[in-house]
Amino acid sequence: MNKRITLKIAKIKDEIKDIKTFSFKYKLNAKPGQFIMLTDFEGGEKPFSISDCTKDEFSITIKKIGEFTSRLFQKDVGDLVSIRGAFGSSFFISNGKVLLVGGGYAVPTFYFFSKILLESGANITLINGARTKDELLFVEKFGKLGINLINTTDDGTFGEKGTSVDIARKLLVSKLQQNQLVSKPQLGDNSRFHPATAGWKRENVDKFDFIYASGPEMMMKALQGVIGEIEYEFLFERYMKCAIGICGSCTVDPLGIRLCVEGPVLPKKIVEQLTEFGKYHRDASGKRILY
Ligand SMILES: Cc1cc2nc3c(=O)[nH]c(=O)nc-3n(C[C@H](O)[C@H](O)[C@H](O)COP(=O)(O)OP(=O)(O)OC[C@H]3O[C@@H](n4cnc5c(N)ncnc54)[C@H](O)[C@@H]3O)c2cc1C
Ligand code: FES
Repeated sequence: MNKRITLKIAKIKDEIKDIKTFSFKYKLNAKPGQFIMLTDFEGGEKPFSISDCTKDEFSITIKKIGEFTSRLFQKDVGDLVSIRGAFGSSFFISNGKVLLVGGGYAVPTFYFFSKILLESGANITLINGARTKDELLFVEKFGKLGINLINTTDDGTFGEKGTSVDIARKLLVSKLQQNQLVSKPQLGDNSRFHPATAGWKRENVDKFDFIYASGPEMMMKALQGVIGEIEYEFLFERYMKCAIGICGSCTVDPLGIRLCVEGPVLPKKIVEQLTEFGKYHRDASGKRILY
């Protein structure tokens, strides 16, 4: 919805250093994966994913990066901001066994999404990754949802050691091994038998119906390489200005997909056609920036 609404900040929660959740009493009617545009009336309007949304309240979780977000961090409860939205595509709501792979400040949108998935009866495994313990988000909130939560840090200071993709690889490569053992190898036939599968226990392996990712683009690019045949959706964060499909600043090659309208959540069949995925993105002027 492109109508502009002025709202009072109802709650501010410090999550970790430089990350805060701002909540608003307003019936947003958003779907998981969608975003709002927010301005503080002092210059600029920026996109933020919705980290929670109930009947009469919604939240966004923001990392302090530059000028705009630093100004937001000066705000208090009761201060006014203005929003448009919610905008964009949303995640497919599966009721199967799903894997959510998240990294960094893009993880909170999975809180809202997990609640909706649980309502639809999905069985959720969530990989919640960060570089180090102090940067890991929503550990307690995700923990309370009763999902299969795998916290992981690159440096091993909390949870598993490794990136979100390292953990996904462990879960998903086991699935490929399962396929290799579909028929029992005959004597002298090594074609379906791989040494890596020797001693492997079939009952320990997860089978996922759908995979979702929200995180740095290079994380999603690496994840794409280990997903195999499973259906997936990725949430893309690219430079956005209008959020209503007219300025062209968020289009991606070669399809001209507008990430503010056809995205930010894109399905596998589209992602596989994106020649710029994991190679470059664009800045405010539209100039290509290599990853
Ligand atoms: C769909 C979508 C959802 C997002 N969700 C979140 C979120 O939930 N939490 C969060 O903290 N951030 C989110 N972002 C990124 C957020 O919009 C930027 O971090 C923010 O605009 C930075 O503004 P700044 O002035 O503080 O920093 P700047 O110094 O202006 O920019 C720092 C970096 O932020 C990004 N950025 C700046 N302006 C924009 C813009 N108009 N559109 C997209 N990216 C921009 C660029 O990568 C830039 O290099 C999202 C972006 C998109 C596109
Ligand atoms: S932000 Fe303007 S077309 Fe997407």
